[in-house]
Amino acid sequence: VLERLWRSLSLDRAGTIVALGGGTATDLAGFAAATYLRGVPWIAVPTTVVGQVDAAIGGKTAIDLPTGKNLIGAFHWPVMTVIDPLLLDTLDDIELLNGAGEIVKTGLLMGERIWELPLHEQVRRCAAFKSGICVRDPHERTGVRAQLNLGHTFGHALEAAAGYTALPHGRAVALGLLAAVRLSIRHYGLDAAIEHDIERTLRPEPVRVDPDRAWEALGRDKKAVAGSPRLVLLEALGRPVTGVELPASEVRAELERLIAK
Ligand SMILES: NC(=O)c1ccc[n+]([C@@H]2O[C@H](COP(=O)([O-])OP(=O)(O)OC[C@H]3O[C@@H](n4cnc5c(N)ncnc54)[C@H](O)[C@@H]3O)[C@@H](O)[C@H]2O)c1
Repeated sequence: VLERLWRSLSLDRAGTIVALGGGTATDLAGFAAATYLRGVPWIAVPTTVVGQVDAAIGGKTAIDLPTGKNLIGAFHWPVMTVIDPLLLDTLDDIELLNGAGEIVKTGLLMGERIWELPLHEQVRRCAAFKSGICVRDPHERTGVRAQLNLGHTFGHALEAAAGYTALPHGRAVALGLLAAVRLSIRHYGLDAAIEHDIERTLRPEPVRVDPDRAWEALGRDKKAVAGSPRLVLLEALGRPVTGVELPASEVRAELERLIAK
């Protein structure tokens, strides 16, 4: 894909790439911009909820490999991200539900039930929150961004086990949030009503993947240490805890609850 993209770009170093599309397009175009002629500027114009609240913000660009998600990529901040709620008008219910996963994640981190607000306000609040975190840690060096991984350790493992095509990112995040919240209720006494909020708002459905493949992928997560996953959990709404290590058997059992028998 990259080679085809490279050949089709008639751009010199004074040019700028404009990425118009969902998170897949902004990740790919941003990565192309990071590497084409050793880097050209780019502008992100996200057209999905996932893109507007997450993928087009924070300078992470990447592509997936069969062995892992985002394994090749670069930090390459767009010179500008244009967020226009009108671009979301053509999304169907499935895509809106995909986006809701990242919105609920952000609300849990912020400590506000923002998923109850009108969509344009949800997008505005999420984009502002993620931007605020990322400008404090533009290249993921200080640990501030780690909280954004809430639900993603499980979600990425399921995406990898599904081969990246069968399970949309937003659905994987919804399942991952369910696991993170269940563990948070058990270990930190997080309000159990949040699990019901997630079930009602995101309607996560167990996914049909190979449990061994998902477990292996979870151990390969970029945030794992010596194959042992480090999780983001919640002490309370708006109070994330990062780098949590739990017994492998418990983490695996939670992962398997997300997988259809
Ligand atoms: N770089 C990051 O920080 C980051 C963060 C989150 C997600 N991501 C990545 O983003 C990707 C998922 O992004 P996504 O959920 O936007 O999926 P996507 O980009 O695959 O888009 C989903 C579908 O919506 C269609 N579409 C896009 N805009 C539309 C519009 N306005 N109207 C109708 N259809 C439209 C697309 O053609 C596609 O079929 C994943 O690969 C994920 O890893 C990256």
